[in-house]
Amino acid sequence: MQLDRILQSQGFGSRKQCRSMIRHGHVAIDDAICEDPFIELNPEGLCFSVDGEPWQYREHAYVMLHKPQGYECSRTPKHHPSIFSLLPDPLVGREVQSVGRLDEDTTGLLLLTDDGQFIHQLTSPKRKVSKVYAVTTKHPVDEALLAALRKGVLLHDEQAPIAAAACEQVDTHLIHLTLLEGKYHQVKRMVAAAGNRVEALRRIAIGGLDLPDDLAEGEWRWLEPTDLERLWQG
Ligand code: URA
Repeated sequence: MQLDRILQSQGFGSRKQCRSMIRHGHVAIDDAICEDPFIELNPEGLCFSVDGEPWQYREHAYVMLHKPQGYECSRTPKHHPSIFSLLPDPLVGREVQSVGRLDEDTTGLLLLTDDGQFIHQLTSPKRKVSKVYAVTTKHPVDEALLAALRKGVLLHDEQAPIAAAACEQVDTHLIHLTLLEGKYHQVKRMVAAAGNRVEALRRIAIGGLDLPDDLAEGEWRWLEPTDLERLWQG
């Protein structure tokens, strides 16, 4: 593939912009500046740098973000900054989308990708990929709350009660709640329907993939093949 096309596919701009970047000496391969936009390269595993920043060719982008509070998942946010402002330009340029959404005040694990099929599979109700939330409650957790969430609660606009796939008490005001669906405000609505109230909400796992301890709020990182496999486990 030609170098200008490779850069374009990785989100660095239009072909014209990529050609200009290359010609102006912004792009290096194996630590040597390459000023030929038309050089043919095998993109598989290709490492290059743009303005000294290292990149690796990836057919699709799969990343995780530790979403902080006060960010909207929309590209055109209304009241708060967008999560896309936390990502580097080339990721935004290749039009990654979030896999589902978290509320503005929810923190934790959020996946983003430019692979539409992957989004479809992960969010399909048929696949039943679990999502685990750490839920801080306003009132102390009691057996009635746990029992109601496990048995199922009827939410407004739903035909049948929805039950948690798992629900365990972690502290006086903290539960871990596992859901297999991703309905609008689902955790907040379920906890309210069970007679308590969500004070803070953090997604700590999707499938078998945990939010890593060393990924600070606001930081992102690439998903490696082992991470992608873990998503379908658990
Ligand atoms: N459930 C909610 O209520 N909010 C979220 O952000 C995610 C799940």
